Amino acid sequence: MFAKPSQPAAPIEGPRHVALIMDGNGRWAEARGLPRAVGHREGVQALKRTVQAAPDLGIGCLTVFGFSTENWRRPAEEVSDLMGLVRSYVASDLKRLEREGVKVRVLGRRTGLPADIEAIIERAEKSTAHNDKFILQVAFNYGGRADIVDAAQRHVDLVLAGKATGPLDEETLGLGLSTAGAPPVDVIVRTSGEQRLSNFLLWEAAYAELVYQNVLWPDYGPEALADVVLQYRNRDRRFGGRATPYAAPALAVG
Ligand code: FPP
Repeated sequence: MFAKPSQPAAPIEGPRHVALIMDGNGRWAEARGLPRAVGHREGVQALKRTVQAAPDLGIGCLTVFGFSTENWRRPAEEVSDLMGLVRSYVASDLKRLEREGVKVRVLGRRTGLPADIEAIIERAEKSTAHNDKFILQVAFNYGGRADIVDAAQRHVDLVLAGKATGPLDEETLGLGLSTAGAPPVDVIVRTSGEQRLSNFLLWEAAYAELVYQNVLWPDYGPEALADVVLQYRNRDRRFGGRATPYAAPALAVG
């Protein structure tokens, strides 16, 4: 039996940066007897609704997990469907994102991607680089461990070239991550009821709040995102310290 905090945590502001693991496209489709590709296609619609709703909820940055370094293990047809969705999403939405002041950043390794996808990513980043109203980061061919390894390797390369010195510290390594420059991740959300990070934003997750929602990604939208904001504001973020008075637990846990 644990004692409750002596008083409710003071409401906090934000979140500024929400990261989303968009899970459940396959299950959504299978439940309807439809091909998984339809689930992914509906997933893109959910992504559009969510990006549109974010600024009104005070969110300034969204990071979404579009394709992981492990997703290459899926059948070739599904991999190809997911690549096709990037093509159509950028073709149908890039102009609007440009116009609405959204800066698009794509996190993850470029090597191994089809050449046209690489070019599309570069075009989306370049044409929105000057925007500053909202940041949309799409993790694509992304793995959290790989991103940390790449950041460390970048530092090693600089040291070997005589452009940096050791020892490596957290701030320097953080500057080499693909999320460098974005605000700190306040909350990581996973949909579909699964409760794990699956190699997403491992470094950035250190003090992020975690929210698990029982909604399949194609059903996601403004209401679910508003619920994330509400849950987040009721959390007591301490970053290892003691932000609010807290009654010691009745039982010590060793
Ligand atoms: C997880 O559902 C979702 C993905 C692997 C991909 C997410 C991609 C989209 C929502 C498409 C939009 C992306 C971009 C970049 C335009 P799952 O297939 O693992 O679902 P399941 O766990 O129910 O099988």
